[in-house]
Amino acid sequence: MAQDTDVLLNEKRIFNPDEQVIKRANVDKWESELNKGKDLEKYWANKAEQFEWFQKWDKVLDDSNKPFYKWFVNGKINLAYNAVDRWIKTPKRNQVAILYANERGDERKITYYELYREVNKFANGLINLGVKKGDRVSMYLPMCPELLVSMLACTKIGAIHNVVYSGLSVGPFVERMNELKAKILITADGTYRRGKIIDLKKIADEGLLQSHTVETVIVVNHTGNSIESSDLSGREISYDRLIEGESDEFKAELMDAEDPLFILHTSGSTGKPKGILHTTAGYMVGVATTLRDIFDIHDDDLWWCTGDIGWITGHSYVIYAPLLLGTTTLVYEGAPDYPDPGIWWRMVERYGVTKFYTAPTAIRHLMRFGNRYPKIYNTSSLKILGTVGEPINPEAWMWFYKNIGKEKIPIMDTWWQTETGMHLISPLPTTPLKPGSATKPVPGVEADVVDGKGNPVPLGKGGFLIIKTPWPAMFRNLYHDEERFINSYWKDYPGYYNAGDIARKDEDGYFWIQGRSDDVLKIAGHRIGTSEVESAFVSHPAVAEAAVIGKSDPVKGQVVKAFLVLREGYQLKTKLIEDLKLHVRYELGPVAVLGELDQVKSLPKTRSGKIMRRILRAREEGEDLGDTSTLEE
Ligand code: PRX
Repeated sequence: MAQDTDVLLNEKRIFNPDEQVIKRANVDKWESELNKGKDLEKYWANKAEQFEWFQKWDKVLDDSNKPFYKWFVNGKINLAYNAVDRWIKTPKRNQVAILYANERGDERKITYYELYREVNKFANGLINLGVKKGDRVSMYLPMCPELLVSMLACTKIGAIHNVVYSGLSVGPFVERMNELKAKILITADGTYRRGKIIDLKKIADEGLLQSHTVETVIVVNHTGNSIESSDLSGREISYDRLIEGESDEFKAELMDAEDPLFILHTSGSTGKPKGILHTTAGYMVGVATTLRDIFDIHDDDLWWCTGDIGWITGHSYVIYAPLLLGTTTLVYEGAPDYPDPGIWWRMVERYGVTKFYTAPTAIRHLMRFGNRYPKIYNTSSLKILGTVGEPINPEAWMWFYKNIGKEKIPIMDTWWQTETGMHLISPLPTTPLKPGSATKPVPGVEADVVDGKGNPVPLGKGGFLIIKTPWPAMFRNLYHDEERFINSYWKDYPGYYNAGDIARKDEDGYFWIQGRSDDVLKIAGHRIGTSEVESAFVSHPAVAEAAVIGKSDPVKGQVVKAFLVLREGYQLKTKLIEDLKLHVRYELGPVAVLGELDQVKSLPKTRSGKIMRRILRAREEGEDLGDTSTLEE
């Protein structure tokens, strides 16, 4: 949500960490380690030592060809081996790795040993289908254990996974599959959502008609909905059949530290979504370190991150980081308010969740039901809370702190992105907290707020957020688009990473993130580009031109406000509005939440034809239009 600057400027409350939290936290060491030595490479080398390397690195950081940084140069390692196999040799062998639960009350507990066997069988199955290191494997799956198994099996083979969020529709799904020339698609017969089964297979079938590279479709029988689906593409095999009779042994591929791990798409200001490329060792060290130290993970923890695996939050903190730490990760399939808005707290009570990580939009949604539901359940197992995905307004922060944290446990407001792979600005459990601030860069990271020329802005003033130091989990490139990689992130402030966010720094050096500085919307924490929504509108026969902006929404943060120039003969009446809403939803999926649609005669454009969304935003908010000298008319 675009933060209301006045509210934030007046936010003076400070919450100091509880004695118990400080005693337990192993982060004091962590901070002092770095502050003493100020040696970035030594610091990250220490973090990397905890893993099993097939061959140790020669150099921690190679920054000789910026911004193409390399981490743990010449190290050989396998992430899946470290997340699963490593634990088989320890007492964690029979500990639950994945605790799956869903809105129907079903539950599955998979121990590290069971996970190990399942991943190996599936990896063998993939090898039999001809998958090899470097191949791209697409996944269009719900939050189910097979998604984690599929990702880990790819990682073990060295195949590059590309997970498409199951809430995205055919268009984005096909685009990604074709761009990556994926050989394999893994999908499921359905997903549970608010008492219904959404038939993912039907969407996948539609998409497959437009894919010429997928050789095999693997279908997980997740909901028992399979009768509905049929082998429309003639290239299907069920997940169960694929692993039937396969060996439960598999030798992990020797991966170079910089070998690609996965590609995950995210929206930019213009054009198609970007394929964010992450590589192996740095990502691994970055996500494991931040989860352990920010959420103070110990052996007795039960970790629950409510984010979907289809986004970076799920990649990093539902699957990879918790398993790399040997933790139990709760994978929950369902909505926060179904069958009632107490479901999450009931889950916390039932399983004794200790660390709970969610999105501000979910908190704002649950807040509307008051404190009735949290009161019913015993949530005293919780030790640390966290938020991610968008700024959290102080009011929502206080609600979370009081009603779920009982004013005793801290909230980690973690700022990061698909590109950063790991948390970059976040409190540690020992940090005094201010509601609405992500506090400070994590150890090893330096950030600043600058003006358009790269000069630091005075304290309290808004500016552009930049990251000044490289970090191990940083993305390495955009898939097949190096030019865009440089232009979008590294050109404006040479040597520094341009995050695309507006932020403010206060007198204590705390960062207050206010929202995106570009044409990217954040709807219920989901990132979506204005240009994607506009393309969806103009693909409808009634629309000649479209411009969209984000409009503040008390629960979702932002929703789409669209300005439409209609073709002759069309009027924006109820029937057409409904039609357009359905159309955009069909094109993009339910992530594109539409608010108002306005019919306009023309759109404000520059002389070169670029839509000036800034003017539309200013007009919408009743603000001064600013410099309009480049406006066409
Ligand atoms: O605007 C920032 C916002 O989410 C953007 C990144 O979106 P995405 O790549 O989808 O990743 C989201 C999950 C990591 C950022 O540019 N954002 C993320 N976390 C916060 C945030 N804004 C304010 N506070 C946060 N804690």
